[in-house]
Amino acid sequence: MNADIKLRVSNIDKSFPGVKALNQVNFAVRKGTVHVLCGENGAGKSTLMKVINGIYRPDAGEILIDEKPVDIKNPIQARSLGISMIFQELNYIPEMTIEESLCVGNWPRDRYGRINWKEIRKRTKELLAKENLNYNPETKLKELTVSDIQMLEILKAISYNSDIIIMDEPTSAITNKEVEVLFQKINEIKSRGACIIYISHKMDEIFRIADEITVFRDGCVVDSRPIGEYDLETVISQMVGRKLENNFPKEEIKLGGEILKVQSLTQKDKFEDVSFHVREGEIIGFAGLMGAGRTEVMRSLFGLDPYESGEIFIKNQKTVIKNVKSSIDKKMVMLSEDRRRFGIIPVRSIKENVALASLRKFIYSGRLHEEEENKAVKEFCEKMNVKAPDFETKIESLSGGNQQKVILAKWMVTDPDILIVDEPTRGIDVGAKYEIYKLMTELAKQKKALVMVSSELPELIGMCDRIYIMSKGKVTGMLTRDEFTQESIMAYATGTKIQKEVK
Ligand SMILES: Nc1ncnc2c1ncn2[C@@H]1O[C@H](COP(=O)(O)OP(=O)(O)OP(=O)(O)O)[C@@H](O)[C@H]1O
Ligand SMILES: [Mg+2]
Repeated sequence: MNADIKLRVSNIDKSFPGVKALNQVNFAVRKGTVHVLCGENGAGKSTLMKVINGIYRPDAGEILIDEKPVDIKNPIQARSLGISMIFQELNYIPEMTIEESLCVGNWPRDRYGRINWKEIRKRTKELLAKENLNYNPETKLKELTVSDIQMLEILKAISYNSDIIIMDEPTSAITNKEVEVLFQKINEIKSRGACIIYISHKMDEIFRIADEITVFRDGCVVDSRPIGEYDLETVISQMVGRKLENNFPKEEIKLGGEILKVQSLTQKDKFEDVSFHVREGEIIGFAGLMGAGRTEVMRSLFGLDPYESGEIFIKNQKTVIKNVKSSIDKKMVMLSEDRRRFGIIPVRSIKENVALASLRKFIYSGRLHEEEENKAVKEFCEKMNVKAPDFETKIESLSGGNQQKVILAKWMVTDPDILIVDEPTRGIDVGAKYEIYKLMTELAKQKKALVMVSSELPELIGMCDRIYIMSKGKVTGMLTRDEFTQESIMAYATGTKIQKEVK
């Protein structure tokens, strides 16, 4: 018995077909602290959190709250025991309104048991006002950005005033400013004596907020210590079981001809007069603060959204992109930042998801050449280190990071000439990030052109030949490799500096 301990899990086991996701897991969270969980993609972090939240039943072991065993059958019961959770995968229904999404699972009822819409409106307005948010409660989620939706999820989970709040990669899609709001809230939660279990692959974040860290590997706890006894190198080597080469595998590659040129691309209220080009073998980056319009430009370029004016040239040929099909036909593909919305078909297998975009490649002489399809799927999943029992596994049962890798594999199989990647390493563990960078270098060597949108300046600086910077829908600057510094990029990103003519 230890009065400091709020939550304890003891000897937890959990298996899925073909995977032992949790193996004799023990750990304890103290009152008023932030306990960070680290571990590679597929290590078992989210699974443990879902066990604590009553989504999965453990095969063995115990959960104790205030050192008393509890049986958590479902999330509603978890909530009544003072547990709430922010999920890694944003699982929202696009047609839902803000007020519906804030009250789902916790509907206020009138005395006849009917859903009390007046009360829902009232609660929503109160919550929004408290957070100084100017939304209309009736706005549908599909009209919001990913970061808005994630922030609402965070505020919703916090609003229950739970004693144990689980945050599974809460900052993967929010802006820096919102991260500060979240950290402020975390401090408030701590000071009222509640505790937070926090999962993140962002090392700088971890060291800012953790009181204790537990490292997972392959379903087991490797180590658990107070933050003062940890340093970055130790955490990483415990996570990946080896020392990491922490450089970027960038190579100087002789560039070929211009493969994509975008001129004065404009879509009112989103971006204006955006021009850039990329050559064969080149990796260009797009830097900017969240909301600068980078994703919007790429979505229009790829045909997910329209553009009003401007010209696109692919291999010196003027091209009109009407929809996704027209860009895939031109061998231009895009890895989207919101994988739930645009990246995957959750209920289908890894193989189907990977092969989907390239079916035409495998259908010829009147039949589907499944052996070839299988071979290609296998090759790229292995290259990306996708961790799964087999390729028939449904993609929704993979860990978050592994889903991201499958999407990358999917586009690799199409053998594109131009690959646009939007936040390619989001949710990817430190070890696997390096594998993705290596793959990018390999693609560049094959004379492919890469366009990388990223919020992580180190990876842009580490991997790109040139970086375009956007601010408020416009390109404000372009820097070549010898000019890269975090400061120079930030000056253009915040709009304090603007280049007259960006080439
Ligand atoms: N519902 C499920 N069905 C089958 N396998 C599952 C299911 N949920 C998780 N797994 C498997 O359990 C293992 C642990 O997954 P988990 O999602 O807990 O990893 P994680 O540590 O959260 O990784 P990430 O950092 O990528 O989010 C993985 O091999 C995953 O494929
Ligand atoms: Mg996870």
